[in-house]
Amino acid sequence: MAYTVKQVKSEDELKQAFDVREEVFVIEQHVPIEIELDEYDHAPTTIHLLALDTQGRAVGTARFRPYVEEGVCKVERVAVLAGERGSGLGRYLMEEIHRLAKDVGYHAAKLNAQLHASAFYERLGYMGEGEVFLEADIEHIAMKKRL
Ligand code: COA
Repeated sequence: MAYTVKQVKSEDELKQAFDVREEVFVIEQHVPIEIELDEYDHAPTTIHLLALDTQGRAVGTARFRPYVEEGVCKVERVAVLAGERGSGLGRYLMEEIHRLAKDVGYHAAKLNAQLHASAFYERLGYMGEGEVFLEADIEHIAMKKRL
């Protein structure tokens, strides 16, 4: 794998993760920046991951945090820069989230998948739940997986 995925430990790494999210969600998908960044980004219980390429350039990110159900985490802001997609990085980021989440005691992961990405999550063991809904004007479906 030509990428390194690490847990964000500094403000500088968090800024790099936000830059990837801005590129993918705000510029590419037109999500308003005031929705894209939220109060969970700086919550102490939120864990952010950052993916670097061999040159040390930030190319992917994702975060997870506690969900309302006990022992369940919510995975959010899964993003790989357009030029790096299809090389296994999205899978690598998700597998790292599952490993870390299990390590800290979560037994399940939940997410709201953009409908176009639901097959990506199905390949990782997620199952859809309920109806399709709109969030930031994008169709989503809730999905869940046991860890
Ligand atoms: N539809 C169906 N399958 C997909 C897919 C898609 N949109 N994207 C990836 N896959 C499949 C791959 O074929 C691969 O299958 P395999 O493991 O059986 O070979 C597997 O999922 C892993 O693909 P990978 O290359 O690791 O994914 P990626 O690096 O391209 O990242 C996303 C996938 C969704 C993270 C990336 O496309 C992205 O950042 N998109 C824009 C942001 C976004 O929409 N994020 C999701 C928000 S819910």
